[in-house]
Amino acid sequence: MAEADPATLGHEAAAMIEELARLSSEPDRVTRLYLSPAHRQAADLTARMMREAGLTVSEDALGTVRGRLAATAPSPSNRRLLVGSHIDTVIDAGKYDGVLGVICGILAAREIVRRGIEVPFAVDVLAFGDEEGVRFPTTLLSSAAVAGHASAATLQAADADGVTVAEALRSFGGDPDRLSDCADDPGEVIGYLEVHIEQGPVLERQGLPLGVVTAIAGAARFKVSVTGEAGHAGTVPMAMRRDALAAAAELVLAIEETARGGAPHGLVATVGQLEVKPGAVNVIPAEVTFSLDVRAAEDGQRRDAVDRIDSAAREIAARRGVAIAMRRYHEVATRPCASWLQDTGAEALTRLGIEPLRLMSGAGHDGQAMSELCDIGMLFVRCRGGISHNPLESVTVEDMGLAVEALVQWIKAVARNERMFR
Ligand code: GLV
Ligand code: MN
Ligand code: MN
Repeated sequence: MAEADPATLGHEAAAMIEELARLSSEPDRVTRLYLSPAHRQAADLTARMMREAGLTVSEDALGTVRGRLAATAPSPSNRRLLVGSHIDTVIDAGKYDGVLGVICGILAAREIVRRGIEVPFAVDVLAFGDEEGVRFPTTLLSSAAVAGHASAATLQAADADGVTVAEALRSFGGDPDRLSDCADDPGEVIGYLEVHIEQGPVLERQGLPLGVVTAIAGAARFKVSVTGEAGHAGTVPMAMRRDALAAAAELVLAIEETARGGAPHGLVATVGQLEVKPGAVNVIPAEVTFSLDVRAAEDGQRRDAVDRIDSAAREIAARRGVAIAMRRYHEVATRPCASWLQDTGAEALTRLGIEPLRLMSGAGHDGQAMSELCDIGMLFVRCRGGISHNPLESVTVEDMGLAVEALVQWIKAVARNERMFR
C-alpha cells in the first residue's frame, strides 16, 4: 500500500494527543502524575488506542502499558524492538512531552501492518508512567523496572501526602510484589527507540522538523533539608535567629551561581520545589525542604558542581547555626545513544529529505533507564520556541506526521541493519 501522507498521520496524532490531554487531575490544565487517577485513565485510553491499532495489550506491575505487534516477516530470532515514551506529566504541563512519542509508536506500528511492511521482529510500544519524577522522590522508576534495575526500596518512597509508591500502585491496580516481573530479558531485546519533542530551540533555529539525538545529559536529584529554630517574629533579635528559610535562600542563590559559572558543558541547576515549616506569618521558619536538580553534558562537571554546592551548604550552615542535609535519591550518568541507532535514525530522516542534524539532549528521558537494558536511540521533534514543561508547548501537525513517518522508516532501517541478526 502507498505510504500515508504525513499530513494525514499528523492529524491523527494531533487528535489522539488532544484526547489524552483531556485526562488531568486538575480542571483547565494538564497535570497527570504517576499512579494518579488521571494516569489510570490515560493508561486505559492508551491501551484502547493500542488495541485499535491492532496491538496486543498488557500492563506490567508498575503500570507500564505495552502494545505488541508480532513480527510481520519470518524472524531469525525471537527478539523484539522496544519503542516508547511516557504518559505522566509535570504540573501544568504541555500536551506533547512524552505523549507524542507514545502516539508515534502506536501509529508507526499500525502503519507497518497497514502497508504490509515486513519486519522480522516484534515491535513493543511502551507507555511509561514515571518519567517526570514529580509525585514521588523517584525518577524513571517504571522504565528502570522494564530495564531490570529498579530497587524494591524505591517502592517505599512517599509523596507529599505520605502515600508510598507501593500503596499508590495497589490503588492503581499494579502490584509492588511483582516488581521483578516487569523486567525484559536483555537477550530478547534489539534496542529501544524513542521519539520526543526537543524541549529546546536548536531544531527550530536550524529550520529542521526532526533531529537525531547523540546522548542524554546526566542528572542528579536531591532533597535538601535546612533545620533552624522556630521563634517569635516579634521578639527574637535578628542576630539571635537561626532562620531556616533565610539560610535556604542563600543556598538557592549559591546553587544558581555555581551553575552560572559552568555554562560551557551545559551545566544547569534548578530548585523547583520548596516547603517552609511551620509556615506562619509570625513564626521564624524552623525547617525548609527543597528539591535540587543538577545536570550537565559532562559527568565530571556535574559532580564538581554538586561538590561545590555541598561546600556552600556547609559554610552557610556553620555561619548561620543551622543544619543542612542533602540527600541524593537519583543519579544517572550521561548516556550515549548507540551509534548504529543514530545512523539508522539519520538514514530514516534522509529518506524523508530531512538533513539529519545530530544534537544532544539536555532533558532527561526513559532512554536513560533503558540504556541499562539495551542500546538506545532517540529522534527529536521541533517544538515552538523550544518551550516545554509549560502549557505553551506546541508542535505542528506537519511535524507530528513527519515524526510518525520517520519512526516507520527508522524501524525499517533497523530491520535492514545487519547488527540486528547478530
Ligand atoms: C524530564 O522531563 C526531565 O528532564 O526532568
Ligand atoms: Mn519527557
Ligand atoms: Mn518532561
